[in-house]
Amino acid sequence: MYYSLLLLSLLSGPAIALSGSTSGKIQFSGVGYDFQYRPISKITDSSKDYSCQLGKEEWMTGPNAPFTENLAVHIRGPLNLHSYAYYTTSNYTIGVNDTSSWSRQAYFDNYYKDSGVLSMENVTFLAHVGATSACLGKGLSYFGQDAITPATTNGAPGKYMQPLSGVEYMIYSNISCPKSSVNGGCGVYRDNIPAFYGFSGTTKMFLFEFSMPNDTVSSANSSNYYNQPRIWLSSDSLPRVTSNYGSQYNCSCLFEGCGSVDVFAADSTIMNSTLSSFQGLNGNTTADIASMFNGVTGNGQYARPFNTTVKGGIIFDTAGNVVTFISDSLEFEQNISFSDINAMLNSVPSLGDITTLKAGSSLGPVSSTTKKNAGVRALSNNPLWICWTTVITTFLHVFVL
Ligand SMILES: *[C@@H]1O[C@H](CO)[C@@H](O)[C@H](O)[C@H]1NC(C)=O
Ligand SMILES: *[C@@H]1O[C@H](CO)[C@@H](O)[C@H](O)[C@H]1NC(C)=O
Ligand SMILES: *[C@@H]1O[C@H](CO)[C@@H](O)[C@H](O)[C@H]1NC(C)=O
Ligand SMILES: *[C@@H]1O[C@H](CO)[C@@H](O)[C@H](O)[C@H]1NC(C)=O
Ligand SMILES: *[C@@H]1O[C@H](CO)[C@@H](O)[C@H](O)[C@H]1NC(C)=O
Ligand SMILES: *[C@@H]1O[C@H](CO)[C@@H](O)[C@H](O)[C@H]1NC(C)=O
Ligand SMILES: *[C@@H]1O[C@H](CO)[C@@H](O)[C@H](O)[C@H]1NC(C)=O
Ligand SMILES: *[C@@H]1O[C@H](CO)[C@@H](O)[C@H](O)[C@H]1NC(C)=O
Ligand SMILES: *[C@@H]1O[C@H](CO)[C@@H](O)[C@H](O)[C@H]1NC(C)=O
Ligand SMILES: *[C@@H]1O[C@H](CO)[C@@H](O)[C@H](O)[C@H]1NC(C)=O
Ligand SMILES: *[C@@H]1O[C@H](CO)[C@@H](O)[C@H](O)[C@H]1NC(C)=O
Repeated sequence: MYYSLLLLSLLSGPAIALSGSTSGKIQFSGVGYDFQYRPISKITDSSKDYSCQLGKEEWMTGPNAPFTENLAVHIRGPLNLHSYAYYTTSNYTIGVNDTSSWSRQAYFDNYYKDSGVLSMENVTFLAHVGATSACLGKGLSYFGQDAITPATTNGAPGKYMQPLSGVEYMIYSNISCPKSSVNGGCGVYRDNIPAFYGFSGTTKMFLFEFSMPNDTVSSANSSNYYNQPRIWLSSDSLPRVTSNYGSQYNCSCLFEGCGSVDVFAADSTIMNSTLSSFQGLNGNTTADIASMFNGVTGNGQYARPFNTTVKGGIIFDTAGNVVTFISDSLEFEQNISFSDINAMLNSVPSLGDITTLKAGSSLGPVSSTTKKNAGVRALSNNPLWICWTTVITTFLHVFVL
């Protein structure tokens, strides 16, 4: 018995780390950097001529950049989403109590306290099940209860639905975008899609109640991302342009450094939390772009909640600290006081040391003389850009999306 346990742990690493923790927190600090961003200025999408042009550089700076952008929430199956909530507040630092509260700005409950009532406040569900483009993939659309069938009005994933492996949908706010334009609030986006703002703010909190049931369908039948459920955040502009997140450099803002956050990214046993942006590359144009896609994975791992429904989330505080957490003691109330959140965070174990991100800007200040050599965009001039989905997509499949 003893020997076989020992053998097992030699083969598979420390058993506790591998199986992950059923509650806890994973922390990051120093998040945010000076960041130069070229938004899309024009999308040309036809079978003959396909490209995205980029506009003038804009700067993003300060704590949490680039995650200060409006964010879309991505849900990828197999995952049962029971409830979702988004909160904002003006000035919260993890661990610091004052009399303020977080205020709920969006809410979804698929079967509100088992009453059978669907609760939807300030949320719009969209998925890439709309019109197909050869290079940009399918466009955004409302969807039916299966998150696969397109629909014409805002619905919600079905009660107790367990999307299949690889099936992905997104949550936006219910605030409509102005018309597509570089200087519009939602930037340039594809024609004929329902377009809504994502969730805004430097200081924000997202909460989720969910489970990640095992995919019992044969993997031979399945898509990419077999049995890799994930809750992640991206710039809200990314899905409005392309569903091929990992290709078409100018069309996927990930290549401009818009960043993504894996709140809970699971494999067949555990869940990680990972921040992906250009932070830390410090303008190093020779740095391997894959280091951005690999992201910075926080220390510690959660257990994948196969058979249990858990509550958890992510907080971006005002000082550039980010924490993900799983905790029993979370209620998605209208207002949650700072001291209740701090008490909740105190009540769960740290799953590892805090990960401090490297300081520094990704690019030098914009000027026509420095522009030439600026940027971590070693791959963006690759001539094989048309529907180019090899190397980079492979990175993304494995590491990011
Ligand atoms: C990307 O955008 C830049 C700036 O608009 C443009 O010069 C370049 O040709 C575009 N690249 C591709 C592959 O479309
Ligand atoms: C935010 O609160 C912290 C203390 O929690 C304080 O030190 C800081 O000055 C405040 N910042 C702003 C912008 O109000
Ligand atoms: C958006 O959601 C809020 C909160 O539920 C609601 O008050 C508002 O009427 C909604 N707006 C639209 C345009 O649906
Ligand atoms: C809905 O969410 C948006 C996006 O963050 C926010 O700006 C807005 O205030 C929210 N609306 C309501 C009614 O809470
Ligand atoms: C998930 O399903 C696969 C295939 O049926 C099975 O091999 C695996 O043990 C299951 N995992 C769990 C945690 O139940
Ligand atoms: C593959 O999926 C289809 C429907 O999604 C199902 O009918 C079929 O039985 C599955 N095949 C296998 C081998 O699991
Ligand atoms: C989680 O992170 C560990 C350590 O970096 C890595 O070995 C593992 O593959 C990651 N798993 C997932 C699901 O991201
Ligand atoms: C730039 O990145 C390359 C590849 O990762 C690395 O070898 C090199 O040391 C970096 N240079 C600086 C100045 O950080
Ligand atoms: C989930 O429940 C099933 C059926 O009760 C069981 O076979 C499986 O081992 C459980 N999986 C985990 C990860 O607990
Ligand atoms: C939440 O806080 C706001 C502002 O502080 C207050 O107006 C509102 O009544 C509170 N709501 C609840 C349900 O306590
Ligand atoms: C903040 O309040 C919570 C709940 O009362 C408490 O557990 C925690 O110790 C307090 N933190 C500080 C720094 O006072």
